[in-house]
Amino acid sequence: MSHSRKILVTSALPYANGPIHIGHLVEYIQTDIWVRFQKMRGQSCWYVCADDAHGTPIMLRARQEGITPEALIARVAAEHQADFAAFRVAFDNYHSTHSEENRHFATLIYERNRDQSHISKRTITQAYDPLEQMFLPDRFIKGDCPKCGAPDQYGDNCEACGASYSPNELRNPRSAISGAVPEQRESDHYFFRLADFEPMLRQWTRGGGLQPQVANKLDEWFDAGLQEWDISRDAPYFGFEIPDHPGKFFYVWLDAPIGYMASFRNLCDSPRGRDAGLDFDQFWARDSAAELYHFIGKDIIYFHALFWPAMLAGAGFRTPTAVYAHGFLTVDGQKMSKSRGTFIKARTYLDHLNPEYLRYYFAAKLGSGVDDIDLSLSDFTARVNADLVGKVVNLASRSAGFITKRFDGRLASQVADPALYDHFINAGVSIAAAYEAREFSRAVREIMALADRANQYIDEHAPWVLAKTAGRESDLQAACSMGINLFRILIGYLRPVLPGTATDAEQFLRIAPLTWTALAEPLLDHEIAPFTPLMTRVDPAAITAMLDASKEDLSSAPKHSEPASPPSGAQAREPIAATIDLDTFTQIDLRVARIRSASVVEGAEKLLRLDLDLGGETRIVFAGIRSAYDPAALTDRLTVVVANLAPRKMRFGVSQGMVLAAGPGGADIFLLSPDTGAEPGMRIR
Ligand code: MSP
Ligand code: ZN
Repeated sequence: MSHSRKILVTSALPYANGPIHIGHLVEYIQTDIWVRFQKMRGQSCWYVCADDAHGTPIMLRARQEGITPEALIARVAAEHQADFAAFRVAFDNYHSTHSEENRHFATLIYERNRDQSHISKRTITQAYDPLEQMFLPDRFIKGDCPKCGAPDQYGDNCEACGASYSPNELRNPRSAISGAVPEQRESDHYFFRLADFEPMLRQWTRGGGLQPQVANKLDEWFDAGLQEWDISRDAPYFGFEIPDHPGKFFYVWLDAPIGYMASFRNLCDSPRGRDAGLDFDQFWARDSAAELYHFIGKDIIYFHALFWPAMLAGAGFRTPTAVYAHGFLTVDGQKMSKSRGTFIKARTYLDHLNPEYLRYYFAAKLGSGVDDIDLSLSDFTARVNADLVGKVVNLASRSAGFITKRFDGRLASQVADPALYDHFINAGVSIAAAYEAREFSRAVREIMALADRANQYIDEHAPWVLAKTAGRESDLQAACSMGINLFRILIGYLRPVLPGTATDAEQFLRIAPLTWTALAEPLLDHEIAPFTPLMTRVDPAAITAMLDASKEDLSSAPKHSEPASPPSGAQAREPIAATIDLDTFTQIDLRVARIRSASVVEGAEKLLRLDLDLGGETRIVFAGIRSAYDPAALTDRLTVVVANLAPRKMRFGVSQGMVLAAGPGGADIFLLSPDTGAEPGMRIR
């Protein structure tokens, strides 16, 4: 252990005014996998985070809820930590930027920079809300777009035409808080002189730790010239008051990254930190030999790769070893969307699906670059089912049954195929290199190639045949023990990605938590527990339910003023109809149908003509779904029709049935579809 690397790792601090969603989780899962990998390799690695608790949005949100900012951030902190724990994101410490440690370091870093003349003062003119008696950040000014005239646009850019502008160009500007017409007022602000640090930053950039895309961005910013950074805000503000300037507060982004330090200080001072002999200075002093990594999203590179190293250097602290940026999450190729139900909160996901699935899927998609990553829900289902359930868990279940039934749970005392075992161990070198380089998708690919090889081994030895052949007892035990040992290596390699599954597997194998080096020693003459399934398949119905619940989150979300009245959700709009008996229901003949083609109907705005295959019979149905579906996208999909509905004569022809759909209408019409495997003509009952 004494030769192990000393590594401090952070993820960006989530804002304390909203819930964790699956976009955030890309980052926390990515970082957690990397940290778990380092720990499994025996490094002295520490992972800290905190809530980012300051700023105008948090102040206003608390006011809107009628509580203090302190009460809001305490509640959100508990929610965030519960979500992270459920996704097995294992911080060594989780703190808050609204803490004494952070006040201490923010003050210290400010004062040291001030004393080195890196802080200057200027008077600026800014929009002011005379009713609320506060200066307005750009996002809190709304008005008509100066370019296209679209109403109700933010002070910095137009969502209708995409133009960006400054808030004083906005026409008919209004305070988004009070509705008052903003005035222009003057105020003294304090600025951090970033340009003082250009030589130091250029050198830091060339240090080799940065991703090429990030280094290129920095070069662009150097070329554009480094501007002074406004680090102060006027009262009222939720944050830290600047010591020598009453009524002025540190801008949230000044003390946010300092929260990394504060969280680590808090860890050092905790019983755990003291037991481990953690020394703050060993990690943060200018001459520190420890490694410091910040995992962040690509949207906050400027803060982490320019302001932060400069502030640290100006205050006599070490600078980060590297900043690792990742891309943004899209769902089914599009930005997460509340109306599509793809703005999925961590909690909503957990209500429906196993967190290990998402950890695996993100790992399978993540590389070391800043490209966006897409969560394709059908690919998610297919991959988890094929790889984790079909290859990894299945390998154990194929081998374990015989060991339990025929050998009292005892594994053979020798490795049946030492060359294959060695192949698996040697493959660990490249897998470890992939983890180290944050090329998780490559690590996963290589592990799955091994899983294929292990299953091939079982296929070749066919234990189910050996089990029925007299005199092959020891061959049966040897083959199944080999299968279990290969499974153990796979679980070891997947452990950073699947900590929960690995823990369950360790219980099944009756072994201590796996380390990387422990894998080289096979399990011989060892008793394992009876096998219980370590993971079940992704249920497509659970995904649908999760998307529906995410849409409901939207309709019930921010209306704090409206009292909740049961029933809520869609039932509120349309109560359940009167009870019928089973007979009445069975009179309705519902069938699976395949849409052969769909086409628009001239003169009928709402209708699509569907040519349906009902399993040997073709029907034409006119359906009022044109506002929600592109006809081309319907070809070949399965749906459900009422097959014994009396034909209905319409202006455009006869409709021979009715397709089933849910939703209030307009863009919100949702055609039913059976799960994969259903065939045209099957009856639904
Ligand atoms: N509070 C700041 C960070 C301060 S760090 C000193 C912040 N908070 S955030 O809650 O908006 O985002 C936290 C992290 O999650 C950021 O790194 C951000 O890039 C990341 N993500 C937020 N939404 C994301 C996606 N949709 N996809 C991937 N990452 C995303 O920024
Ligand atoms: Zn516009």
